[in-house]
Amino acid sequence: MSEETRILGIETSCDETAAAVLENGRHIASNIIASQTEIHAEYGGIFPEMASRAHIETIHQVVSSALAEAHVGLESIDAIAVTRGPGLAGSLVVGLNMAKGLAIGAGLPLLGINHLEAHLYSIWLVEEEEPTFPLLGLIVSGGHTELLLMRDHLQYERLGGTLDDAAGEAFDKVARLLGLSYPGGPAIEEIAKDGEADAFKFPRSWMEDTWDFSFSGLKTAVLREVRSLQPNLEAGVEAPEGDLPIADLAASFQEAVVDVLVGKTLAAAKEFNANEILVAGGVSANQSLRASFQTKSKIPVRVPPLALCTDNAAMIAAVGHRRFLNGQRDALDIDVLPNWPLTS
Ligand code: KG4
Ligand code: ZN
Repeated sequence: MSEETRILGIETSCDETAAAVLENGRHIASNIIASQTEIHAEYGGIFPEMASRAHIETIHQVVSSALAEAHVGLESIDAIAVTRGPGLAGSLVVGLNMAKGLAIGAGLPLLGINHLEAHLYSIWLVEEEEPTFPLLGLIVSGGHTELLLMRDHLQYERLGGTLDDAAGEAFDKVARLLGLSYPGGPAIEEIAKDGEADAFKFPRSWMEDTWDFSFSGLKTAVLREVRSLQPNLEAGVEAPEGDLPIADLAASFQEAVVDVLVGKTLAAAKEFNANEILVAGGVSANQSLRASFQTKSKIPVRVPPLALCTDNAAMIAAVGHRRFLNGQRDALDIDVLPNWPLTS
């Protein structure tokens, strides 16, 4: 991919307002992320209406900053790539309308991008030898847990996914049960460092004979344990007090999630003769997950650099670059796709 291109990426699917300029598919000239974490931390989760309002307030500034930091104007951009789904409808609409406005104003092509595909392509943003197909992809984020087989670029065979909570969602919900801050993944990872992973025996849901996942039983098991350790905790009151062994609970929970994610991904990689494994999405930032993959896998496992694991627009532009060169151009009347699955 050596052709000279400059893609403006825009991402507003969840609670980050982001814009980036990507040159020649690999060089990140700018990557601006305005996080709404503080707004949502108060509620212990994402409040959809507040999210779309915050996007409306910041999107213009974020896009301007991305262009300014890359020292370019719209006249130097070749195409605008924007997240079309999956995600929160009201949030996606803000980014898509911004992208449409810019595309109309500057006469540029518009490309609607799948957010899950972009998480996988964050791995191609790293300047190193490209992975060789077939690849087994695991996407683990706040909204998704997906196992996919990639036989070539932009080709996806969905093998399975979560039937209930996403992996990141399980981290967020358990963090809340333990009285930890939002987002729960980093909070659990941090406190788990002081705990013993074998302190509690939490269940592993293997979903035998399928490539699917389920994390709600694990969440319930943690809740049951918290209640038995703290019988006075009322139903519905989810912030424990006193001296719960939070570090041990967090470490044991984290290990249960990691065991299943790694175990099933390695089994799928073997079954489909994958050359390498790609792990992407917010939960791929987890060091315990990374370490377990590196120890247990016989084939290379690639993860994005930490800064590109969670939502960003550079990854949207990375897919935009590839699809732009492939000839994709979307009409100006495309709508958001809040439940867009990743298939070829
Ligand atoms: O990919 P992402 O930024 O947004 C979505 O597309 O959902 O993922 C956010 C999710 C949250 O659930 C967050 O708790 C989780 O990723 N996460 C982590 C870590 N960092 C973020 N989970 C476990 N360990 C982490 N270090
Ligand atoms: Zn994401």
